[in-house]
Amino acid sequence: MSRYEEEIKRRRTFAIISHPDAGKTTLTEKFLLYGGAIAQAGQVKGKKNTRAATSDWMEIEKQRGISVTSSVMQFQYEGYCINILDTPGHQDFSEDTYRTLMAADSAVMVIDGAKGVEAQTRKLFKVCAMRDIPIFTFINKMDREARDPFELCEELEQELGIETYAMNWPIGCGKEFQGVYDRQARKVIHFTSNTNARAATATQIEPDDPALAELIGAGRRERLVEEIELLDGASSDFDLERVRHGKLSPVFFGSALTNFGVEPFLEEFLKMTTSPLPRRAGDEVIDSFEDEFSAFVFKIQANMNKAHRDRIAFMRIVSGKFEADKEVYHIQGGKKLRLSRPQQLMAAEREMIEEAYAGDIIGVFDPGIFAIGDTLCAPGRKFCFDPIPTFAPEHFERIRSIDTMKRKQFLKGVEQIAQEGAIQIFKTPYSGMEEVIVGVVGTLQFDVLEYRLRSEYNVELHKETLPFEFLRWIVREEEEPVPLKEEDLLLPNDAKLVEDYKGNQLLLFASRWSIQWVLERNKGLKLAEFGGAKF
Ligand code: G4P
Repeated sequence: MSRYEEEIKRRRTFAIISHPDAGKTTLTEKFLLYGGAIAQAGQVKGKKNTRAATSDWMEIEKQRGISVTSSVMQFQYEGYCINILDTPGHQDFSEDTYRTLMAADSAVMVIDGAKGVEAQTRKLFKVCAMRDIPIFTFINKMDREARDPFELCEELEQELGIETYAMNWPIGCGKEFQGVYDRQARKVIHFTSNTNARAATATQIEPDDPALAELIGAGRRERLVEEIELLDGASSDFDLERVRHGKLSPVFFGSALTNFGVEPFLEEFLKMTTSPLPRRAGDEVIDSFEDEFSAFVFKIQANMNKAHRDRIAFMRIVSGKFEADKEVYHIQGGKKLRLSRPQQLMAAEREMIEEAYAGDIIGVFDPGIFAIGDTLCAPGRKFCFDPIPTFAPEHFERIRSIDTMKRKQFLKGVEQIAQEGAIQIFKTPYSGMEEVIVGVVGTLQFDVLEYRLRSEYNVELHKETLPFEFLRWIVREEEEPVPLKEEDLLLPNDAKLVEDYKGNQLLLFASRWSIQWVLERNKGLKLAEFGGAKF
């Protein structure tokens, strides 16, 4: 195998999802710690209120203790090169999660052992299920009082509609959490200490070894043997193919805080996941091991570093090798270019890079030319990766700058944030740009918009909530249609004609009923639920 192939083969790219507080940050931190990317716990996230922003970029995230945007980290572990994509924990940012999942090949779902499936777990899981990507479950906080493990697995199956297979089984919980039984190795991993804050020390022992009773107590041993029998009898065989198609989720128990069960999870997980997977580009399938470089942009983030006022486009390399000095072709821009200031994130730092391989995520400086979903490939090739769908907004506000002198900053900020894909913006046809109609999937996005306009663009907003909940594109068959005016249509009071910034015309509705009303009274009018690659 060439070095090039080896590099791609050893890569693993996955996203990590959870309901806030289930332990996503703590688990990520432990992974980084094992990989030597950070020297001690607490570097990613410090004590309360001092979240040292690695996965949490913005002030608003620190204030509310949620991650709003997703970030990427790379580290090495036992010969693997791992790219972790952090995702926002809040459902209002599901769209960002969806885009991040486009760049990942599998997902780790962290569940709080005392709480089981929570509201955001359901929402985020739904987003994962749209892509059928493999999902690995880590049931965390077993060092605290947790729910019955059988009950937890059953809840996962019933609430999320995915089969589960317990890879290991916890022995006790809370102060009595003594270890896990590894079902494949048929061994008990008994945790002895975690004094060195790195991996927990563990001894391995067969369940029928008499010494086990001494270690964990006769009663607990008996219970474990019974539970193993029950498990073996109840669950179907482990089927890696079903895992890889997102139909079966391997479940692991552990405690991120005390390190118990984290390293065994990481090791098994890395074995079960694949090297970077191919991506579709229309009729073509672009394989990771192809010689030529290709990538797609899945995220744009401006002002990550306020001092630099920069804008970064994150791209997932789909095939080949990226070399900093080589020209690439930007399909949507129709131009050859060199990607400027390519960088990767290593724990808390950004690092300039010279090369990267399929599966890696790189951030490049974006002078305002990239959009989400754009394809980059080797000069001479011409294909477009399948577009990343956008979620239809369900909440709308009319906004303007309170200070009319700040109109320019206002527009710049709103357009910038819309280009990042955090909001969608519309205007009334034939109107100026004093005010903008903003559509979002979750209302927290409005708060982020307001916060960012204030802190990054120094603009205070006047906001007015609009009653709309549905959006439909007007389908025009003419080559260059004359834009419609409100008078051209018969509209009820709770519907509105707007335009997006590409000039497409749309209707906003407050109810499904009024969509029907408009269709019935405007013969020949065609409405589409999805514009371009929309859901
Ligand atoms: P998140 O990223 O999913 O939102 O969760 P995060 O890792 O921030 O963890 C949320 C809280 O749960 C933190 O406590 C963290 O220390 C705790 N935690 C994470 N994993 C475990 C575990 O395995 N066992 C136990 N007992 N606790 C765990 P906090 O008090 O909210 O924050 P902090 O004071 O530790 O920063």
